[in-house]
Amino acid sequence: MTTGSSFETIHKPAVSEFDVAPNLDRNNVQEYDWQQMFDELDWLPGGGLNKAHEAIDRHANGPKRDKIAMIWEGKNGEREDYTFGDMKRETDKFANVLKSLGIQTGDRVFTFMDRLPEQYIAVFGILKAGAIAGPLFSAFGPDPVRDRMEDSGAKVLVTQPDLRRKITHIIPELFDLQHIIIVNKDGRDPMPIDSQDLDYYEEMGKAPANFTTVATSQYDYSIMHYTSGTTGKPKGAVHRHQAVVQQYATGKWALDLHEDDIYWCTADPGWVTGTSYGMLAPWTNGVTQLIFEGGFRASWWYEQIQKHKVTVWYTAPTAIRMLMKAGDEVPKRYDLSSLRFTASVGEPLNPEAVVWGKEAIGHAFHDNWWQTETGAIMCANYASTDIKPGSMGRPIPGIQLGVVDENFDPVPVGEDGNLVARPGWPSMFHTYWQNTEMYNSRFKKGWYITGDTARMDEDGYFWFVGRADDVINTAGHLVGPFEVESALIEHEAVAEAGVIGKPDPIAMEVVKAFVSLKDGYEETPQLRREIMQFARTKLSAAVAPREIDFIPGLPKTRSGKIMRRLLKARELGLPEGDTSTLEDD
Ligand code: PRX
Repeated sequence: MTTGSSFETIHKPAVSEFDVAPNLDRNNVQEYDWQQMFDELDWLPGGGLNKAHEAIDRHANGPKRDKIAMIWEGKNGEREDYTFGDMKRETDKFANVLKSLGIQTGDRVFTFMDRLPEQYIAVFGILKAGAIAGPLFSAFGPDPVRDRMEDSGAKVLVTQPDLRRKITHIIPELFDLQHIIIVNKDGRDPMPIDSQDLDYYEEMGKAPANFTTVATSQYDYSIMHYTSGTTGKPKGAVHRHQAVVQQYATGKWALDLHEDDIYWCTADPGWVTGTSYGMLAPWTNGVTQLIFEGGFRASWWYEQIQKHKVTVWYTAPTAIRMLMKAGDEVPKRYDLSSLRFTASVGEPLNPEAVVWGKEAIGHAFHDNWWQTETGAIMCANYASTDIKPGSMGRPIPGIQLGVVDENFDPVPVGEDGNLVARPGWPSMFHTYWQNTEMYNSRFKKGWYITGDTARMDEDGYFWFVGRADDVINTAGHLVGPFEVESALIEHEAVAEAGVIGKPDPIAMEVVKAFVSLKDGYEETPQLRREIMQFARTKLSAAVAPREIDFIPGLPKTRSGKIMRRLLKARELGLPEGDTSTLEDD
């Protein structure tokens, strides 16, 4: 078979009220008038559009005022519930805090926090104030935080005591940073707050409980997420308020969200899934969502579903593979009968995992595909359409995906090519922060270049093939090799470093580094451990290399570029291809 897997199609009865199957004829250009979905939004008085208004205030001002928006379960078993009315009050207060600090439309305000309710409140307060929210992954070390804060010129950082301490030494380098707001949740941290910092609860206590949302337009910037490429530092993909229409629509179409659902998205807001689908899609649909602060453990996760009666669950392939590894008997110990729909994103979902879901927890996982840059789901398996295990499904209405060769001509059905999308979908990113050149390079001959390779089968289903670049996908996190190489060469013993993704049965890929040492250093296991630890402290355990090999010199092109492709081929025992541009070694 050229296009499919050897797994049988999972047939579905057409049951969803949000059935989009009729729109999915691949012979039709994906004509879709987004206006009907824009009309379903509330809009601001005067015609503006603001994500916070659509997600929170429209419900707080209507019959859903007392409906629970967020069930929060803390890592120590704490529980807090917030209604849409509570969320409005708290986010209004936070917007007032920012206003009192002089924050204006377009300013960048970043969060660097665990999954605490205060992070969700802060992000929507930022949006109400007309500023651009930049949530950072709390596992990041100081280097990734500095790169992102510096590039964006963020004026305010909302963080928590332990994370604040982790980055203390980079703070003096952040010239645009004016205020740090510390959330010491329930006094968890015994150390006093630095006198130069602001105490979140104190500021919130002083802030008025009403705020008139800044009249942003649909084209104004709202959220930015940094994403890694092959070269250079990560780029800040900036989204506009109008992205909300596609997040709202795909919440219905691709995640099958219904009024009475209890929805759980396991992604962290430091990554795009955690904002587009861990904040915007559920709340614009007025749906209650669970936020679980705790990390991964199979028993904890099943317990969350049982305890909170989760109906729709959106997670990631690495987590599913870890659940599979934990064993089929574990889910049997829990009552998972509340579940109705399960979905996955971020990495290729192997067909075994799709089918395992059906057998072990009663629901096949619906894989869908999108990226930081696309802002929302572009291609999906739907509640009411057949699943071909291993496929990412079909484009959502209004989205035209293509598979093209290097001249941007379509390749025949069933053949591999570059995955491209017709620009202009509502949640499309609008720029890379201060990097128009890089942004423009993503568009050619009327297409947006995704950087992935894929194929389409005779039924219009898309199948992920790989990345067209050197970006590593480890457990759903994109890692730029350049970032890791830069951190490694800061170690005093390291002369050069080359970084690749090494295939892994659980995390899809793990970061592997090849390092050559400076003269006078010996290749010892202790030095290897030391370099590994050095990278972990600088970057984060999620990004740092899991393996380091010492090699005498790195293969390079004549112009001095490290040939990661060759390092990878050698690692995998594959043919090394054209090495004519290699320097003599
Ligand atoms: O390579 C694809 C992979 O993740 C990339 C996007 O990563 P990011 O911008 O971090 O956004 C992740 C959350 C949407 C894609 O270019 N990817 C995403 N979904 C899938 C996938 N690979 C295979 N199958 C998927 N369903």
